[in-house]
Amino acid sequence: MTQTVDNPEVLRMEGITKRFPGVLANDDISIDVRAGEVHALLGENGAGKSTLMKVLYGLLQPDRGEIFLHGGRIHISSPRAAVEHGIGMVHQHFMLVPNLTAVENVMLGLPRRPLSVLDRAGASRRLRELSAEYYLGVEPNAVVENLSVGAQQRLEILKLLFRNVRLLVLDEPTSVLAPAEVEQLVRMVRMLAAEGRAIIFISHKLEEVKEVSDRVTVLRDGRVVATCPTDEPSSADLAQMTVGRPITIGRRLGGRASESAATELQLEGVTGLGDHGVPALVNVSLEVRAGEIMGVAGVDGNGQRELAECIAGLRRIESGRVLVGGRVVEGQSRDLNLLGFIPEDRQRTGLILSFSIGENLVLKSFDRPPFTRRGLLRWRAIWEHARRLMGDLRMRRTDPTIPVAELSGGNQQRVMVGRELQGDPSVVIASQATRGLDIGAVENVHEMLLGQKKRGAAVLFISTELNEVLAISDRIVVLYRGEIMGEVRPEEVTIEDIGEMMLGRRRTA
Ligand SMILES: Nc1ncnc2c1ncn2[C@@H]1O[C@H](COP(=O)(O)OP(=O)(O)OP(=O)(O)O)[C@@H](O)[C@H]1O
Ligand SMILES: [Mg+2]
Repeated sequence: MTQTVDNPEVLRMEGITKRFPGVLANDDISIDVRAGEVHALLGENGAGKSTLMKVLYGLLQPDRGEIFLHGGRIHISSPRAAVEHGIGMVHQHFMLVPNLTAVENVMLGLPRRPLSVLDRAGASRRLRELSAEYYLGVEPNAVVENLSVGAQQRLEILKLLFRNVRLLVLDEPTSVLAPAEVEQLVRMVRMLAAEGRAIIFISHKLEEVKEVSDRVTVLRDGRVVATCPTDEPSSADLAQMTVGRPITIGRRLGGRASESAATELQLEGVTGLGDHGVPALVNVSLEVRAGEIMGVAGVDGNGQRELAECIAGLRRIESGRVLVGGRVVEGQSRDLNLLGFIPEDRQRTGLILSFSIGENLVLKSFDRPPFTRRGLLRWRAIWEHARRLMGDLRMRRTDPTIPVAELSGGNQQRVMVGRELQGDPSVVIASQATRGLDIGAVENVHEMLLGQKKRGAAVLFISTELNEVLAISDRIVVLYRGEIMGEVRPEEVTIEDIGEMMLGRRRTA
């Protein structure tokens, strides 16, 4: 990577301080970004990364601090003002309108005459040009809800290029992408930097940060720990700077379950339909024993969501059957307490954002003692329970009455994992359970799942991160277009073997 420290300065934020009730989210943060530079922001969940970027994008006003663009002090009152200054941001959660086309989304909010046919034709042409220039493959007339997550993200970026922004903020852009899409994004980000644009890149994944960025700033507890060229510290050092304690990367933690243990989860020839009515899960059979972690590898969108939902009773099974603890699961009749279910989309199915942390933690058990007595909720018990669990989950914030919506992305995920692992379920379905978590928290969740295994639970660990599937599973199946391509043991397989299966090559045992 080139040396960018001597390039002209594009952005300088000085002494940014932002307080929310009960938290100092940004504590006197200073950072500078150069032309042609990819500047990574690293930090634990809740360290203040998104807050700092929202200040830059005009979504939040800082309590103190100043922002300079090309050396001149500016005031950013709104996202519109930010874009006028040439600053654009792609959020952790996308902001596109699902039932409009790509070009309509791009034109939305442009300061122009009411959308005329001419504008639209011009915009389509420009979109096509930009898409070709950066190898993005975005079709202007495609309806957004039919686009893959990766394509939606590329469209968000195109929308900003359309407005000719010079400084791009990407907040955890890769946490939802398949490996091939990550590569494409990294290539694009490097291209944008080579043109002299500046990019701020937030990610929890050290390999990615190492690959894409020139410099890195590490935040902890709202403060800057260090800013340095990315290739100076080792990955292990970066990990330690981020979480403040040593982290072991790439350890193998799986083993072999006892052959005599009972089968707790069994699928027999399960076929299920996807959202568009075509089979998304085809004749899937598998067995997971008590005290075993079965990993499910695969590129995103190959039936993982449908698999999890069929087991959890949230999706109709067309043929075949699912047995939990030897009993057939039918629709909503599943026993919530036999099954811990961490769904992949915490914002839509996992949490009620406007409810407090304490309430979210008892969503499955509020109608039983000790949380209810004689038909009345016992709030003392609910808050105490929440405080205890928040401690176990190593959450910094200690007030269980704040709404989940006010937590950082990673801390929302912790609340859900904590809730689903309570009450000793005999089967745990963990779907993308570590998505968006910082490296310390990833280790934490792995330990929690290993703890479940030790206790005797059957764990189905579904993840698109091959490394973590290899690290904690005892056995692994690979899903491709809704079918199982084969079963392997992590100690007997190479990454290349699994990679082939992820692309549809069947393995005959
Ligand atoms: N709107 C808000 N109201 C109250 N507190 C907030 C709000 N937004 C963020 N916070 C708090 O500010 C702190 C920093 O949050 P922020 O979202 O900036 O973290 P982050 O570094 O982006 O974390 P993650 O990696 O989990 O996305 C957290 O303690 C969070 O709970
Ligand atoms: Mg964030």
